[in-house]
Amino acid sequence: MSNDPARTLKPTVEQAPHLLREWFDHYVDRFRAPDGSLPPALELKYRHSLRVAADARAVAKAAGWPSPRIRLAEACGLVHDVGRFAQYADHGSFNDADTLDHGAAGRKLLENEGLPEHFGPALWPQVACAVAYHNRGTADIPPGIDGPTADLLGLIRDADKLDIMDLVLRSVARDGFSDLPDMLPHIRLDRAVTPDVLTQALSTRSVAIGTLHTLSDFLVMIATWFHDFNNRAARQMAVERGIVQRLRQVLPDSPALGRLFQAITTSADPPDGMQGAAECEQDDDNAPHPCTPKETACRLNTRPMPPR
Ligand SMILES: [Fe+2]
Repeated sequence: MSNDPARTLKPTVEQAPHLLREWFDHYVDRFRAPDGSLPPALELKYRHSLRVAADARAVAKAAGWPSPRIRLAEACGLVHDVGRFAQYADHGSFNDADTLDHGAAGRKLLENEGLPEHFGPALWPQVACAVAYHNRGTADIPPGIDGPTADLLGLIRDADKLDIMDLVLRSVARDGFSDLPDMLPHIRLDRAVTPDVLTQALSTRSVAIGTLHTLSDFLVMIATWFHDFNNRAARQMAVERGIVQRLRQVLPDSPALGRLFQAITTSADPPDGMQGAAECEQDDDNAPHPCTPKETACRLNTRPMPPR
C-alpha cells in the first residue's frame, strides 16, 4: 500500500473527512524547504485555502445547506486552489494568463492524486466543476451547469471572494500590499484610480483584470465583486466584515467613487441558490448523477478573478 494519503483515502468524503486535510497538508509539504518553510506566496496560498474552506462552511451553514453538503463545501474550499502550488513552483507566478489555468490544473492534479475515490462518483463531478471553474469568467464556463453543481461552484466562488477581499484589505492596512507586485507585476503600488477602470466599474459593474494599473484600480475591481455574490449569506458576511467601509477608507474620496459605493450598497441581494442541494442528498452512488451539466444557461454570477 502506498504511503501517500491520497492513495489510502476512503471512498467517501463522508466517512473520513479529516483525510482530505491530511492529504492536503501532505501535498503542500512537497513545496516546503528543508527548514519546513514555504515560499511566502505559497504560505499565503496555504492559509488562503484554509480560510476559504472555513468560509465555504460558514456560507453553506448560513444558507441552510444540510450537513453533508456543508462538509462538501468545506472540502471543496480546501482544495479549490490546489493548482496554485505547482503553478508557482514551476512558473514563479500566479498569473494564469502567462502560465496556466490553475483551476483546470487543480482538477487534473486531484484526478492524478486519486481524489475522485475520496469524493465518490456522485460528488466528484461537482467538486471537479467547482475546482476547474472557480477562476473562470462567464464566457469560459460551459453552459448547462445547474442544480447542486452550480450551487457548489457559486458558493466556492463566493467564499474565495470573501477571503480575498479581507486578505487584500488587511495587506493594504499592514504595508500597502507590498506583496501585490510579486503576484501581479504590472500593477504599481499607486493610490490613483485609472479613469477607464472607474468607468468600467460604473458602467459594467466589473473591471477587466488586464486593465488594472494601480493598487487602487485593484481595490475598485474588488469593490465590484459585491455585485457578484451568488449567496445572500456570503454578501452578508462581507457586510459584517466591513468590506465596503474598509474599501472607502483606502480609496480616494471622489464623486465617481461615491457613485460606485452607492451602486454597491444598493444592489439587490443574491438568492440563496440552494434549490438543488436537498435532492442531491438522495443520490445512490451507482445511479446516474442528476447533477451532471444540462443544456441550460449557467445562472452563476461569474466574473474573471485575479490571481490569488
Ligand atoms: Fe484560485
